[in-house]
Amino acid sequence: MHKRKKLSVIGAGFVGSTCAHWAAEKELGDVVLLDINEGSAKGKALDLFEASPIEGFDSKVTGTSDYKDTAGSDVVIVTAGLPRKPGMSRDDLLAKNATIVKKVCEGIKEYSPNAIVIIVSNPLDAMALVAKETLGFPRERVIGMAGVLDSARFRSFIAEETGVSVKDIQAFVLGGHGDTMVPMPRHCSIGGAPLEKFLSKEKIDALVDRTRKGGAEIVGLLQTGSAYYAPSASAVQMAEAILKDQHRILPCAAYLEGEYGVKDIFVGVLCRLGGKGLEAVVELDLNEEEQAGLDNSVNHVKELVTALQNLNY
Ligand code: APR
Repeated sequence: MHKRKKLSVIGAGFVGSTCAHWAAEKELGDVVLLDINEGSAKGKALDLFEASPIEGFDSKVTGTSDYKDTAGSDVVIVTAGLPRKPGMSRDDLLAKNATIVKKVCEGIKEYSPNAIVIIVSNPLDAMALVAKETLGFPRERVIGMAGVLDSARFRSFIAEETGVSVKDIQAFVLGGHGDTMVPMPRHCSIGGAPLEKFLSKEKIDALVDRTRKGGAEIVGLLQTGSAYYAPSASAVQMAEAILKDQHRILPCAAYLEGEYGVKDIFVGVLCRLGGKGLEAVVELDLNEEEQAGLDNSVNHVKELVTALQNLNY
């Protein structure tokens, strides 16, 4: 008999519970929602499961605070950790979330040693490194969610500005998940035609700038936390590519082993995602401006990693 896939989501807060929502509705498999707050995980999971007859999905959704219940997961999405408040950068979360992500990954390692793990907790590029070091998994099985989200923001702004369907807009963002990210308008296309056919350079620059600050824009509006609909949809798109062995090309934070001259840290690059996780990093020829942007972003990630190494988490 065909066995259903198992997806665990760690952290049942805004991002985690919304991940469970998208994943259950897409019938990616059975979903386990884990949180240190057991009641919250159980309550949200039960509530979501009770929506299944209405929405018509056959995914079992359960909540827990015990890693035993996540045993044998095919994919685990890690969203545990504090979100940003107004005035905070993603980097301000470093110490607190490093401790949380380490603890979470110990639980994953014990019960799902073959899982592919998608990290969402911020600051993303540093948390992905904490996860990889704790899990001891090869880079194929530890991947950070950043580029899909940043690119989705860029694509939605382009759609709004041009009046074209979001479905026809291709764009991606490289680099770290922060203000130094590198949107790539030169590689952006609308229905296959270059972006500059549709928008002036000034307009494109303005959208690039809004994309870089996209997370802060939401934090500024919400005041009490950070974005969750688009982040969770992004993580679930990555999970779907893996669970359905789709071989999709998506921008993700990958542990680089020499690509773009970078080693041993997570940076956003174009990746091929499929059943084995990270199947390949697609390396592009960058022009001078793009290379300078990437170098700047990589330096920022390195600073974050140095700050991380000086912490006792
Ligand atoms: N193990 C499991 N869950 C934990 C742990 C832990 N050690 N520590 C905290 N949590 C849970 C909290 O109980 C909470 O339910 O993580 C959840 C975080 O949820 P929210 O506070 O709603 O935060 P959210 O908006 O979901 O963001 C989570 O994702 O996008 C990133 O920057 C964001 O790092 C943040 C993370």
